[in-house]
Amino acid sequence: MSKITLKNVVKRYDSSVAVREMSLEIEDGEFLALLGPSGCGKTTTLRMIAGFIEVSDGRIFFADQDVTDLPANRRNTGMVFQGFALFPHMTAAQNVAYGLEMRRVPKAETKERVAKVLDLVQLGGFAERMPRQLSGGQQQRVALARALVINPHVLLLDEPLSALDAKLRHEVRLQIRQLQQSLGLTTIFVTHDQEEALSLADRLVVMNAGRIEQIGSPADLYERPASPFVADFIGKTNFFKGTMTGDMFSTDFGLSLKVAPRVAAATLLGVRPEKIKIAKRSEAGPAGQGDINAIDGVVELVSYLGPSTEYCVRISGDHRVLVQQSNRVAAEGLEVGQPAVLTIPPEWCFMFKADANADDLKAVRPG
Ligand SMILES: Nc1ncnc2c1ncn2[C@@H]1O[C@H](COP(=O)(O)OP(=O)(O)OP(=O)(O)O)[C@@H](O)[C@H]1O
Ligand SMILES: [Mg+2]
Repeated sequence: MSKITLKNVVKRYDSSVAVREMSLEIEDGEFLALLGPSGCGKTTTLRMIAGFIEVSDGRIFFADQDVTDLPANRRNTGMVFQGFALFPHMTAAQNVAYGLEMRRVPKAETKERVAKVLDLVQLGGFAERMPRQLSGGQQQRVALARALVINPHVLLLDEPLSALDAKLRHEVRLQIRQLQQSLGLTTIFVTHDQEEALSLADRLVVMNAGRIEQIGSPADLYERPASPFVADFIGKTNFFKGTMTGDMFSTDFGLSLKVAPRVAAATLLGVRPEKIKIAKRSEAGPAGQGDINAIDGVVELVSYLGPSTEYCVRISGDHRVLVQQSNRVAAEGLEVGQPAVLTIPPEWCFMFKADANADDLKAVRPG
């Protein structure tokens, strides 16, 4: 129900900087996932938006209102904390009512709103249960109800599902998404789970050491990662170091690969495991001169993953390539120790080049 804008937000602690010059706009009703390695500043960012910690620099806006100096209880954000905890000595209903009591909402109205929001998270019949009498997923939904009951403008969820097992996680996250959509709530969701982020969010933000590495739709980040960090963090990527000559990339171990994005100064090539084709050498014959990007290798590992099979293939010398193949057709034949031919489609290669101003490599896109 509110657009959120961060302008050059910084959080400094005595000895370190947790968030560096962060600028970000989250659209009204948008579901944004915040991803990044442990310690990169996700929780700090959420807590600054909620007003639980002060910014060291920069401004935060909800719609057109500058909320930077507003205390947390006047920002109207609902937050589910990392490692959420319900008050153990209060019933589900009392836990949910707590925020309304703090805001001195009249008793009758509180009762009505608590009942309504417990229904919303499908816990209508559980109001009088103590937390210990609830399952993990039910407790999680009480925590969510506690965040929603104040009719927040903004919903901030800090790894709200991390305590749940895979199946329940899936269930609760769908509920969160449905609720968020039906209420039109602007939501920031922190998660360690990439699949969760890719499947739920309108846009993803990948953070690294207090900075935004990339913002974009799930497909943007997966198909067009802006840096090796993003390519590596979201999904899996095979990387080759080397140099470009014309439209050929020569790896530092002597492999020549034709690439579609011709990037003069590229020094790193990345390719996703599922974009690489794999075939038995006996079927394909040895990789010939005429084949584009065909590489000989030997299968070292086969991991059956259900919908797909993953192969680790050793190519020249000590280099290994990860290949993933759909099991749409039965995964038969390729076994450990067998020779295989890999084919790398030029159009699926990510090209990165060293940026003079950063330690890191940045993607370059032609055109
Ligand atoms: N009160 C504090 N004083 C000093 N440094 C802090 C404080 N709180 C957090 N930090 C530091 O700020 C950085 C960012 O912490 P933050 O909790 O935002 O990380 P995170 O991305 O949420 O990590 P995780 O995925 O582990 O939850 C970390 O390096 C952390 O050690
Ligand atoms: Mg955190």
